Amino acid sequence: MPDNAINDCDIIVYGASSVHTLDSGAARATVPERLLRPSVQGNEAAALGGGKVLALGTESELRARYRPRQTLDAGGGIVAPAFLDAHTHPAFAGDRADEFEWRSEGRSYLEIAARGGGILSSVRALRQASEEQLTEAVAGHFRRMQAHGTAACEAKSGYGLSTAGELKSLRAIAAAAARTGMQVFPTFLGAHALPEEHEGHPDRYLDLLCAETLPAVREAGLARAADVYIEGHAFDLRRARLYLERARELGFALRVHAEQFENLGGARLAAELGAECADHLEALDPAGIEALAASRKTFAGLLPCAPHFLRQATDAPARQLIQAGVPYFVATDFNPGTSYTPSIPEAIHFARIRLRLSALEALAGATSNAAASLGVADRKGRIAPGYDADLVVLDLPSIEHLGYAFGENPVKHLIAMGKILF
Ligand code: NIG
Ligand code: FE
Repeated sequence: MPDNAINDCDIIVYGASSVHTLDSGAARATVPERLLRPSVQGNEAAALGGGKVLALGTESELRARYRPRQTLDAGGGIVAPAFLDAHTHPAFAGDRADEFEWRSEGRSYLEIAARGGGILSSVRALRQASEEQLTEAVAGHFRRMQAHGTAACEAKSGYGLSTAGELKSLRAIAAAAARTGMQVFPTFLGAHALPEEHEGHPDRYLDLLCAETLPAVREAGLARAADVYIEGHAFDLRRARLYLERARELGFALRVHAEQFENLGGARLAAELGAECADHLEALDPAGIEALAASRKTFAGLLPCAPHFLRQATDAPARQLIQAGVPYFVATDFNPGTSYTPSIPEAIHFARIRLRLSALEALAGATSNAAASLGVADRKGRIAPGYDADLVVLDLPSIEHLGYAFGENPVKHLIAMGKILF
C-alpha cells in the first residue's frame, strides 16, 4: 500500500490539550527521575483501531492518514492512559455502613474485627448471596470504578473463605467483567482471614487452602495470582510462607498484603519469594525497604486511601521507597471495610497529600507502573502504537491539577479496548 493511502480506523480522539503517553521508560519505574518527563508535547490526537493505539500526532496529521468510523472531541482536556487499579477487593455483597457508624462512635476497625465483624461480616453476606446476586454486586462495583476512569483492575476474591465460596467469588468476577467490559486480573485471596468454622484451628484452614482450594482454583483457571493477608489478626509469617510456597509451586503469581498494622516481615518474605508486590506497608521498617530494593522485582503497592479511612497516623514510606529504587504502584484497595472508594482520582489525591507524590509520579503509579506489576507493561498503561486502546480524557487545565481538587471526578471520557464507554 502506498504511504499516502488513507486507511480506515475506528476512532480519532482529537482536541486534547496534551496526550500524556508515559512512554519514556516510566513503565519499568525503577529509575524514578525518568518518571519526571513522561509526557510528549505537541500531541493532541490519537488514532485507534482494532482495540489498539495506531498512532499519535496532530489532528490534521492523523486525518491525512486515517478515515475514522467515529470521533471523540476531548474538548481541550488531557488524554492519559486509562487507570489500571492494581489492588481491589470487589467481590463482596452488601456493605458495612453499620460498622462504619460504630467506628464513628469510637470503636476501632481491629476491635470490630475481633468481635466477629470486619472481613467475617462480609463473609457471611457473601455466603448468603446467590451467585447471580454476587455477580450483579460486582458488576455494580466495576461500573463505579469505570465511572472514575478505571479500564482494568486486579480483582481479589477473599470473602468466601471456603472452596465453594472462593470459586463462586472468582466466577462472579469473571461474569461481572464480561457484563461490564471491565478488564480483570483476578487474584485468589483465600488467605484473607480465618473463617468462623475453623476458629481456633488456623492450621486446619491452612491445610484446606493448600490441599484443596488453591489446586481447585488453579484447575478452574480462575485466578492468575494468589494473595495472603499477613497480619497479627490474620496470617502469621510461618503460615504465609507455607501458603505462598504452595501457590508458587502450583504456578500462581504472588501478591501480598504486608505491614498494614504491624511489621511482621511480610515485605521481606514477598521479596524473598519473588512476589509481584507487597502492598500497604504503613508499618514497614528500613530493613523491609532494603529487602524490596534488593529484590529488583517486587513492587510496593501504595494504598493511601486505607490509612485515611482507618484514621491511621502513619503512612507507607513512599518517598524512601522511591528513593531506594523500589518500583511502586498506586491503587484504591477498594473494599467495604478499610477503603470504600472505587476512585483512582481519589487515591491519587491521597498519594499526593499523604505520600508526597508528584502528579506524574501518581499518574504513572496508577497506569504504567500498575501494568508493570501485573506483567503487562508491554501492552497496558501507556499510550503508544500497538498498546491496548485504554484512554481517559481528564477535564483538567494541566496535569499538575491531577489530585489537586478532591471529591470531584475529573474523568470526562473512558475508552477501554478501543470502545468508548462514555
Ligand atoms: O486491604 N487488608 C486486608 N484486606 C482489606 C480489608 C478487608 C475488609 O476489611 O473487608 C484491606 O485493607
Ligand atoms: Fe487489600
